[in-house]
This record gives sequence, C-alpha cells and structure tokens, in this order.
Amino acid sequence: MSLTVAVLFAVLLHGRVTLASDPDPVRDFCIANTDSATNIPCKNSSDATVEDFIFSGIKSRGRFSETGLASIPVNVNSFPGLNTLGVSLVRADFEAGGVNVPHFHPRATEVAGLVHFQMNVGDKPATILGSFDSENPGLMKIPAAVFGCGIKEELLEKAFGLTAKDISKVRRKLTLVLERLKAVVRFSIHLIKINLDNASGNINTIL
Ligand SMILES: *[C@@H]1O[C@H](CO)[C@@H](O)[C@H](O)[C@H]1NC(C)=O
Ligand SMILES: *[C@@H]1O[C@H](CO)[C@@H](O)[C@H](O)[C@H]1NC(C)=O
Repeated sequence: MSLTVAVLFAVLLHGRVTLASDPDPVRDFCIANTDSATNIPCKNSSDATVEDFIFSGIKSRGRFSETGLASIPVNVNSFPGLNTLGVSLVRADFEAGGVNVPHFHPRATEVAGLVHFQMNVGDKPATILGSFDSENPGLMKIPAAVFGCGIKEELLEKAFGLTAKDISKVRRKLTLVLERLKAVVRFSIHLIKINLDNASGNINTIL
C-alpha cells in the first residue's frame, strides 16, 4: 500500500514538472485589465498603447534580503502586458556569497523544472536575468514551505535528523527572515510603481 502511494506521488510530481506551462495564446495580446470595476479580462485593444508593453522596473536592483539576494519579479502582476504571452522574467542581484534558497516555480520551468537554487561564489556582486515559460510562474521557497508552516515537529525531526531544539532555532531564524522578506516585497512593489509612473527616459525592457 505504502509503495503504491509513493509511486503515485512520484508520478504526480513528475507530471507537475513536465506539464507546467501556460495555455497557447489565441490572440496576439491581451493586456490584463486592471480595472476591477469590470470583469473583462483584456483591455480593449483599441485602447492599447506603447506604454502597455514597456516595463522599466528592473533598471535598478531591489534591496538585499538576509540571504544576500535582491530580486525583482517581472510577471503579469507587475507588467499586465505579459498576460497570455506565456513568458516572464526576474532580475536577481546577489551580494558576494549571496544565496537564493532552494525553491521551485509551480507553474513554470526556469533552467529546469526541478528544485533549484543560486549562490554567488565570486567575490563581487552579481546580477542575473532569469526567464520563465509562464506569465505567472509562482514561487515556492523550500525552507519557508517546510519550516514556516504547521508541519508536526516530530515529523521534521525524523525527516531531517534534527532535535526539537534545532527545529525551534531554525523556526526562530526563519520568522525573522520572513518578516524582512515582507518588507523587501513591499519595497520592490513601491519601486516598480515609481518606475512605471515615470516612463520617460527609463525604458529598459521593450517587448
Ligand atoms: C473597444 O473600443 C472601440 C473603440 O472605442 C469600440 O468601438 C468597441 O465597442 C470597444 N469594444 C468593447 C468590447 O468594449
Ligand atoms: C523620473 O525620470 C526623470 C528623468 O529620467 C528623473 O529625473 C526622475 O528622478 C524620475 N522620477 C522618479 C520618481 O523616478
């Protein structure tokens, strides 16, 4: 019985990896309608402007987190012109030794669809541009997903070979990181807004 469950789980995981992509577009573009007063998904194409396809928010880096990573996601939520186009990107800056903790994207593949991480092993800051095959890739960070939720402590002790003391230490540390992460996200959204509000001379990305 437990073997059946294990095999099923592996197949489901495999399915997630290989089937993660957005549906094929049926029109050239569909700029997400951010006007919450209507239920129409696309902005009227007669009202589309060049600005709908410009995003300048990755001109400068975000603020570094506890792990030495500053990322600015450019997905349909921050850039409505990407809607239905099935692509997005991220600017990620790393301090020397900076780390993007193990994570995966539930609706997209980045380099590969598996759990992955990045670390700057150089002695200078580094910048990367990541790309995704989805306009809304999602992000699941393994440390927060595993230690930042209500999974029974006994299970974590057995799974990772840790003591109760180790686990509460990890959880305390993670709470701190999550609080700082929330502040960074708020800051990044603000940054994107400023850059979007000010398109003149700040054009970095044109689709
Ligand atoms: C889109 O805009 C055009 C021009 O203003 C208008 O004729 C048309 O009815 C609009 N379409 C919708 C679905 O509102
Ligand atoms: C808007 O752009 C101008 C010209 O590039 C720049 O001088 C100004 O500081 C920018 N304002 C903001 C709020 O980013």
